Amino acid sequence: MTKRVAIICGGRSSEHEISCISAGGVLAAIDRSKFEPILIGISKSGKWFLLDEKTPLSINDGVLPTIAETGTSVTLDAAGFHSEGKNLNIDIVFPLLHGPYGEDGTIQGLLEMADISYVGSGVLASAVAMDKSFAKPIFAAHGIKVAAGFVVRASEWAKDKASIQKQADLLGYPVFVKPARGGSSRGTTKVKSAAEFVAAIEEAHRFDPKAMVEQEIRGKEIECAVLEIDGVAKASLVGQIKIDPKYDFYNFEAKYLDSATTIELPASIDQKISDQIRAKAVEAFISLGCSGLARVDFFLTDNNEVIINELNTMPGFTATSVFPKMWAATGVGYTDVITHLLNAALTRNNGVLGN
Ligand SMILES: Nc1ncnc2c1ncn2[C@@H]1O[C@H](COP(=O)(O)OP(=O)(O)O)[C@@H](O)[C@H]1O
Ligand SMILES: [Mg+2]
Repeated sequence: MTKRVAIICGGRSSEHEISCISAGGVLAAIDRSKFEPILIGISKSGKWFLLDEKTPLSINDGVLPTIAETGTSVTLDAAGFHSEGKNLNIDIVFPLLHGPYGEDGTIQGLLEMADISYVGSGVLASAVAMDKSFAKPIFAAHGIKVAAGFVVRASEWAKDKASIQKQADLLGYPVFVKPARGGSSRGTTKVKSAAEFVAAIEEAHRFDPKAMVEQEIRGKEIECAVLEIDGVAKASLVGQIKIDPKYDFYNFEAKYLDSATTIELPASIDQKISDQIRAKAVEAFISLGCSGLARVDFFLTDNNEVIINELNTMPGFTATSVFPKMWAATGVGYTDVITHLLNAALTRNNGVLGN
Protein backbone atom coordinates (compact mmCIF):
# COMPACT_ATOMS: atom_id res chain seq x y z
CA MET A 1 0.00 0.00 0.00
CA THR A 2 1.31 3.44 -0.86
CA LYS A 3 1.59 5.93 2.01
CA ARG A 4 -0.16 9.26 1.63
CA VAL A 5 2.42 12.02 1.96
CA ALA A 6 1.42 15.63 2.52
CA ILE A 7 4.05 17.92 1.03
CA ILE A 8 3.62 21.29 2.73
CA CYS A 9 5.24 24.37 1.25
CA GLY A 10 5.21 28.17 1.22
CA GLY A 11 4.55 29.55 4.67
CA ARG A 12 4.87 32.79 6.53
CA SER A 13 8.65 33.18 6.56
CA SER A 14 10.86 35.20 4.24
CA GLU A 15 11.87 31.88 2.63
CA HIS A 16 8.35 31.25 1.26
CA GLU A 17 9.45 31.14 -2.37
CA ILE A 18 12.43 28.85 -1.81
CA SER A 19 10.13 26.44 0.01
CA CYS A 20 7.80 26.34 -3.03
CA ILE A 21 10.73 25.47 -5.29
CA SER A 22 11.81 22.69 -2.90
CA ALA A 23 8.27 21.24 -2.98
CA GLY A 24 8.29 21.25 -6.78
CA GLY A 25 11.50 19.22 -6.68
CA VAL A 26 10.13 16.65 -4.25
CA LEU A 27 6.89 16.27 -6.23
CA ALA A 28 8.88 15.53 -9.37
CA ALA A 29 11.16 12.97 -7.72
CA ILE A 30 9.11 11.16 -5.04
CA ASP A 31 8.85 7.39 -5.61
CA ARG A 32 5.20 6.99 -6.56
CA SER A 33 5.32 3.21 -6.27
CA LYS A 34 5.67 3.76 -2.49
CA PHE A 35 4.19 7.19 -1.83
CA GLU A 36 1.19 9.21 -2.97
CA PRO A 37 1.90 12.95 -2.69
CA ILE A 38 -0.72 15.49 -1.69
CA LEU A 39 0.34 19.10 -2.10
CA ILE A 40 -0.58 21.66 0.54
CA GLY A 41 0.43 25.33 0.25
CA ILE A 42 0.51 27.92 3.00
CA SER A 43 0.11 31.50 1.83
CA LYS A 44 2.32 34.31 3.11
CA SER A 45 -0.45 35.35 5.46
CA GLY A 46 -0.72 31.80 6.84
CA LYS A 47 -3.78 30.37 5.05
CA TRP A 48 -3.66 26.69 4.07
CA PHE A 49 -4.82 25.36 0.67
CA LEU A 50 -5.04 21.98 -1.01
CA LEU A 51 -3.21 22.45 -4.30
CA ASP A 52 -3.23 20.75 -7.62
CA GLU A 53 0.06 19.01 -8.37
CA LYS A 54 0.36 21.15 -11.48
CA THR A 55 0.59 24.38 -9.47
CA PRO A 56 3.66 26.15 -10.88
CA LEU A 57 6.46 25.89 -8.33
CA SER A 58 9.56 26.97 -10.19
CA ILE A 59 11.28 30.24 -11.10
CA ASN A 60 9.66 31.63 -14.22
CA ASP A 61 11.36 34.48 -16.09
CA GLY A 62 13.13 35.48 -12.88
CA VAL A 63 9.85 35.52 -10.94
CA LEU A 64 9.81 33.33 -7.82
CA PRO A 65 6.75 31.12 -7.15
CA THR A 66 4.33 31.95 -4.30
CA ILE A 67 1.18 30.37 -2.90
CA ALA A 68 -1.90 32.30 -4.05
CA GLU A 69 -4.89 32.63 -1.73
CA THR A 70 -7.30 30.70 -3.93
CA GLY A 71 -8.64 27.18 -3.93
CA THR A 72 -9.87 24.63 -1.44
CA SER A 73 -8.84 25.32 2.10
CA VAL A 74 -7.27 22.76 4.42
CA THR A 75 -7.25 22.59 8.20
CA LEU A 76 -4.93 20.73 10.53
CA ASP A 77 -5.81 20.19 14.16
CA ALA A 78 -5.62 17.39 16.72
CA ALA A 79 -8.04 15.37 14.53
CA GLY A 80 -5.71 15.56 11.51
CA PHE A 81 -5.96 17.18 8.08
CA HIS A 82 -9.39 18.04 6.74
CA SER A 83 -10.64 19.61 3.55
CA GLU A 84 -14.27 20.11 2.50
CA GLY A 85 -15.36 18.10 5.55
CA LYS A 86 -13.27 15.05 4.64
CA ASN A 87 -10.25 13.64 6.43
CA LEU A 88 -7.28 13.62 4.06
CA ASN A 89 -5.89 10.48 5.78
CA ILE A 90 -2.30 11.61 5.69
CA ASP A 91 0.28 9.04 6.77
CA ILE A 92 3.40 11.21 6.65
CA VAL A 93 4.00 14.94 6.36
CA PHE A 94 7.00 16.41 4.58
CA PRO A 95 7.07 19.94 6.03
CA LEU A 96 9.20 21.61 3.38
CA LEU A 97 9.04 24.91 5.18
CA HIS A 98 12.09 27.04 5.81
CA GLY A 99 12.49 29.58 8.57
CA PRO A 100 10.05 30.65 11.31
CA TYR A 101 6.58 29.03 11.34
CA GLY A 102 7.84 25.82 9.81
CA GLU A 103 11.48 24.97 10.37
CA ASP A 104 11.30 26.11 13.98
CA GLY A 105 9.19 23.50 15.79
CA THR A 106 5.83 25.18 15.33
CA ILE A 107 4.36 22.90 12.68
CA GLN A 108 6.18 19.98 14.29
CA GLY A 109 4.23 20.67 17.51
CA LEU A 110 0.97 20.76 15.61
CA LEU A 111 1.82 17.40 13.98
CA GLU A 112 2.74 15.88 17.36
CA MET A 113 -0.66 16.88 18.71
CA ALA A 114 -2.34 15.33 15.66
CA ASP A 115 -0.19 12.19 16.08
CA ILE A 116 1.02 12.25 12.47
CA SER A 117 4.52 11.16 11.35
CA TYR A 118 6.65 13.85 9.77
CA VAL A 119 10.02 14.24 8.10
CA GLY A 120 12.88 15.92 9.92
CA SER A 121 13.69 17.14 13.38
CA GLY A 122 11.21 17.31 16.22
CA VAL A 123 9.97 20.30 18.20
CA LEU A 124 13.02 21.01 20.36
CA ALA A 125 15.77 20.41 17.79
CA SER A 126 13.89 22.46 15.20
CA ALA A 127 13.39 25.34 17.62
CA VAL A 128 16.97 25.37 18.87
CA ALA A 129 18.55 25.14 15.41
CA MET A 130 16.34 27.98 14.16
CA ASP A 131 17.67 30.39 16.75
CA LYS A 132 21.41 30.75 16.20
CA SER A 133 21.82 32.39 19.62
CA PHE A 134 20.64 29.14 21.26
CA ALA A 135 22.32 26.67 18.91
CA LYS A 136 25.79 28.23 19.21
CA PRO A 137 26.29 27.70 22.96
CA ILE A 138 25.17 24.07 22.57
CA PHE A 139 27.72 23.48 19.80
CA ALA A 140 30.40 25.15 21.93
CA ALA A 141 29.49 22.96 24.91
CA HIS A 142 30.08 19.93 22.67
CA GLY A 143 33.53 21.18 21.77
CA ILE A 144 32.60 22.48 18.32
CA LYS A 145 34.08 25.95 17.82
CA VAL A 146 31.84 28.95 17.03
CA ALA A 147 32.54 32.58 16.10
CA ALA A 148 32.81 35.06 18.95
CA GLY A 149 29.81 37.34 19.16
CA PHE A 150 26.83 38.65 21.07
CA VAL A 151 23.07 39.20 20.83
CA VAL A 152 21.39 42.58 20.33
CA ARG A 153 17.70 42.67 21.22
CA ALA A 154 15.64 45.51 19.77
CA SER A 155 14.65 46.58 23.30
CA GLU A 156 18.32 46.87 24.38
CA TRP A 157 19.23 48.66 21.17
CA ALA A 158 16.51 51.24 21.76
CA LYS A 159 17.95 51.96 25.22
CA ASP A 160 21.70 52.07 24.69
CA LYS A 161 23.15 52.14 21.19
CA ALA A 162 26.50 53.53 22.33
CA SER A 163 27.52 50.65 24.58
CA ILE A 164 26.41 48.08 21.99
CA GLN A 165 28.47 49.86 19.38
CA LYS A 166 31.44 49.72 21.78
CA GLN A 167 31.03 45.96 22.13
CA ALA A 168 31.18 45.63 18.34
CA ASP A 169 34.27 47.84 18.21
CA LEU A 170 35.91 45.43 20.66
CA LEU A 171 35.25 42.46 18.39
CA GLY A 172 36.98 44.39 15.61
CA TYR A 173 35.69 45.04 12.09
CA PRO A 174 34.56 43.50 9.88
CA VAL A 175 31.73 42.00 11.89
CA PHE A 176 28.66 40.20 10.59
CA VAL A 177 25.26 41.37 11.76
CA LYS A 178 22.35 39.02 11.17
CA PRO A 179 18.91 38.07 12.44
CA ALA A 180 19.14 35.30 15.09
CA ARG A 181 16.30 33.43 13.39
CA GLY A 182 16.97 34.35 9.80
CA GLY A 183 17.73 32.41 6.68
CA SER A 184 18.78 32.80 3.06
CA SER A 185 21.12 35.58 4.27
CA ARG A 186 18.18 37.97 4.47
CA GLY A 187 18.90 40.86 6.80
CA THR A 188 22.59 39.92 7.01
CA THR A 189 25.29 42.57 6.55
CA LYS A 190 29.05 42.49 6.52
CA VAL A 191 29.97 45.58 8.50
CA LYS A 192 33.36 46.88 7.46
CA SER A 193 33.63 49.85 9.81
CA ALA A 194 31.98 51.36 12.87
CA ALA A 195 30.14 53.86 10.65
CA GLU A 196 28.10 51.06 9.04
CA PHE A 197 27.09 49.35 12.29
CA VAL A 198 23.87 51.22 13.15
CA ALA A 199 22.30 50.64 9.72
CA ALA A 200 23.22 46.95 9.87
CA ILE A 201 21.54 46.41 13.26
CA GLU A 202 18.44 48.20 12.03
CA GLU A 203 18.38 46.07 8.90
CA ALA A 204 18.67 42.83 10.95
CA HIS A 205 15.91 44.05 13.27
CA ARG A 206 13.59 44.49 10.29
CA PHE A 207 13.61 40.67 10.12
CA ASP A 208 13.96 39.74 13.76
CA PRO A 209 13.92 41.69 17.05
CA LYS A 210 16.91 39.57 18.04
CA ALA A 211 20.06 40.32 16.06
CA MET A 212 23.50 38.74 16.37
CA VAL A 213 26.86 40.37 15.94
CA GLU A 214 29.76 38.08 15.10
CA GLN A 215 33.44 38.40 14.45
CA GLU A 216 34.23 37.74 10.80
CA ILE A 217 35.66 34.28 10.21
CA ARG A 218 37.94 34.33 7.21
CA GLY A 219 38.06 31.09 5.33
CA LYS A 220 36.34 28.63 3.07
CA GLU A 221 32.63 27.90 3.54
CA ILE A 222 32.29 24.13 3.77
CA GLU A 223 28.98 22.30 4.01
CA CYS A 224 28.12 18.75 4.99
CA ALA A 225 24.76 17.00 4.67
CA VAL A 226 23.63 14.65 7.42
CA LEU A 227 20.96 12.07 6.58
CA GLU A 228 19.43 9.43 8.81
CA ILE A 229 19.71 6.13 6.96
CA ASP A 230 18.12 3.13 8.67
CA GLY A 231 18.30 4.86 12.05
CA VAL A 232 21.91 6.05 11.79
CA ALA A 233 23.01 9.65 11.12
CA LYS A 234 25.47 9.59 8.20
CA ALA A 235 27.58 12.45 6.84
CA SER A 236 27.92 13.11 3.11
CA LEU A 237 31.09 14.15 1.36
CA VAL A 238 31.82 17.77 2.16
CA GLY A 239 31.46 20.54 -0.41
CA GLN A 240 32.97 23.98 -0.69
CA ILE A 241 30.80 26.94 -1.64
CA LYS A 242 32.54 28.96 -4.35
CA ILE A 243 31.18 32.45 -4.56
CA ASP A 244 31.83 34.90 -7.38
CA PRO A 245 34.27 37.45 -5.89
CA LYS A 246 31.93 40.26 -6.96
CA TYR A 247 29.85 39.32 -3.89
CA ASP A 248 31.06 40.35 -0.46
CA PHE A 249 29.84 37.12 1.10
CA TYR A 250 27.30 34.32 0.51
CA ASN A 251 24.34 36.71 0.36
CA PHE A 252 20.81 36.24 -1.05
CA GLU A 253 21.75 37.15 -4.60
CA ALA A 254 24.79 34.88 -4.56
CA LYS A 255 22.59 32.06 -3.24
CA TYR A 256 19.61 32.17 -5.54
CA LEU A 257 19.52 34.78 -8.24
CA ASP A 258 22.76 34.13 -9.96
CA SER A 259 24.47 31.08 -11.35
CA ALA A 260 27.80 32.49 -10.17
CA THR A 261 27.80 30.37 -7.02
CA THR A 262 28.88 26.78 -7.38
CA ILE A 263 29.71 24.00 -4.99
CA GLU A 264 32.92 22.11 -5.35
CA LEU A 265 32.18 18.50 -4.54
CA PRO A 266 34.09 16.99 -2.93
CA ALA A 267 35.91 20.05 -1.60
CA SER A 268 39.58 19.97 -2.50
CA ILE A 269 40.79 19.93 1.06
CA ASP A 270 42.95 17.52 2.98
CA GLN A 271 41.25 14.15 3.56
CA LYS A 272 41.96 14.35 7.29
CA ILE A 273 40.26 17.75 7.56
CA SER A 274 37.30 16.60 5.55
CA ASP A 275 36.90 13.54 7.81
CA GLN A 276 37.09 15.84 10.81
CA ILE A 277 34.34 18.04 9.36
CA ARG A 278 32.13 15.03 8.64
CA ALA A 279 32.54 13.82 12.22
CA LYS A 280 31.74 17.30 13.56
CA ALA A 281 28.64 17.48 11.36
CA VAL A 282 27.27 14.28 12.90
CA GLU A 283 28.25 15.53 16.39
CA ALA A 284 26.42 18.80 15.77
CA PHE A 285 23.36 16.85 14.56
CA ILE A 286 23.35 14.70 17.69
CA SER A 287 24.12 17.64 20.01
CA LEU A 288 20.89 19.40 19.05
CA GLY A 289 18.87 16.18 19.02
CA CYS A 290 18.14 16.31 15.29
CA SER A 291 16.33 13.67 13.24
CA GLY A 292 16.07 12.86 9.56
CA LEU A 293 18.26 15.48 7.95
CA ALA A 294 20.36 18.59 8.46
CA ARG A 295 22.82 20.62 6.48
CA VAL A 296 25.69 21.66 8.68
CA ASP A 297 27.67 24.70 7.55
CA PHE A 298 31.24 25.36 8.60
CA PHE A 299 34.10 27.74 8.01
CA LEU A 300 37.56 26.33 7.43
CA THR A 301 40.23 28.92 8.18
CA ASP A 302 43.61 29.12 6.50
CA ASN A 303 45.24 27.46 9.48
CA ASN A 304 42.76 24.57 9.26
CA GLU A 305 40.55 25.57 12.14
CA VAL A 306 37.02 24.17 11.75
CA ILE A 307 34.33 26.56 13.00
CA ILE A 308 30.63 25.75 12.79
CA ASN A 309 28.43 28.49 11.35
CA GLU A 310 24.96 26.99 11.55
CA LEU A 311 22.82 23.88 11.26
CA ASN A 312 19.71 23.93 9.08
CA THR A 313 17.06 21.36 9.93
CA MET A 314 15.17 21.90 6.67
CA PRO A 315 17.75 22.99 4.12
CA GLY A 316 16.92 24.00 0.55
CA PHE A 317 15.67 20.81 -1.02
CA THR A 318 15.30 21.29 -4.76
CA ALA A 319 17.05 18.71 -6.96
CA THR A 320 19.85 21.22 -7.49
CA SER A 321 20.09 22.39 -3.87
CA VAL A 322 23.26 21.71 -1.94
CA PHE A 323 21.77 19.00 0.30
CA PRO A 324 20.58 16.63 -2.46
CA LYS A 325 23.69 17.41 -4.54
CA MET A 326 25.98 16.40 -1.68
CA TRP A 327 24.12 13.12 -1.30
CA ALA A 328 24.17 12.49 -5.04
CA ALA A 329 27.96 12.93 -4.95
CA THR A 330 28.05 10.48 -2.03
CA GLY A 331 26.07 7.92 -4.02
CA VAL A 332 22.49 8.44 -2.83
CA GLY A 333 20.19 9.95 -5.48
CA TYR A 334 17.43 12.52 -4.85
CA THR A 335 14.59 9.99 -5.00
CA ASP A 336 16.38 7.70 -2.54
CA VAL A 337 17.11 10.60 -0.18
CA ILE A 338 13.36 11.37 -0.14
CA THR A 339 12.56 7.68 0.49
CA HIS A 340 15.07 7.49 3.38
CA LEU A 341 13.50 10.60 4.93
CA LEU A 342 9.95 9.30 4.63
CA ASN A 343 11.00 5.93 6.09
CA ALA A 344 12.82 7.67 8.96
CA ALA A 345 9.66 9.70 9.64
CA LEU A 346 7.72 6.47 10.21
CA THR A 347 10.06 5.43 13.06
CA ARG A 348 8.89 8.55 14.97
CA ASN A 349 12.21 9.05 16.73
CA ASN A 350 11.69 12.78 16.18
CA GLY A 351 8.69 12.60 18.53
CA VAL A 352 8.46 14.40 21.85
CA LEU A 353 10.15 11.48 23.62
CA GLY A 354 12.53 10.75 20.74
CA ASN A 355 15.92 12.25 19.89
N1 LIG B 1 30.82 35.26 11.47
C1 LIG B 1 30.86 35.21 10.14
N2 LIG B 1 32.06 35.29 9.48
C2 LIG B 1 32.13 35.26 8.14
N3 LIG B 1 31.04 35.19 7.33
C3 LIG B 1 29.83 35.12 7.92
C4 LIG B 1 29.67 35.11 9.34
N4 LIG B 1 28.36 35.03 9.62
C5 LIG B 1 27.72 34.97 8.43
N5 LIG B 1 28.59 35.04 7.40
C6 LIG B 1 28.26 35.05 5.95
O1 LIG B 1 26.88 35.27 5.78
C7 LIG B 1 26.23 34.12 5.21
C8 LIG B 1 24.86 33.95 5.84
O2 LIG B 1 24.98 33.82 7.24
P1 LIG B 1 24.33 32.61 8.02
O3 LIG B 1 24.69 32.77 9.44
O4 LIG B 1 24.72 31.34 7.37
O5 LIG B 1 22.77 32.89 7.90
P2 LIG B 1 21.62 32.23 7.00
O6 LIG B 1 20.82 31.42 7.97
O7 LIG B 1 20.85 33.40 6.49
O8 LIG B 1 22.26 31.40 5.93
C9 LIG B 1 27.22 32.98 5.47
O9 LIG B 1 27.07 31.94 4.54
C10 LIG B 1 28.56 33.71 5.32
O10 LIG B 1 28.87 33.95 3.94
MG1 LIG C 1 23.76 29.98 6.14
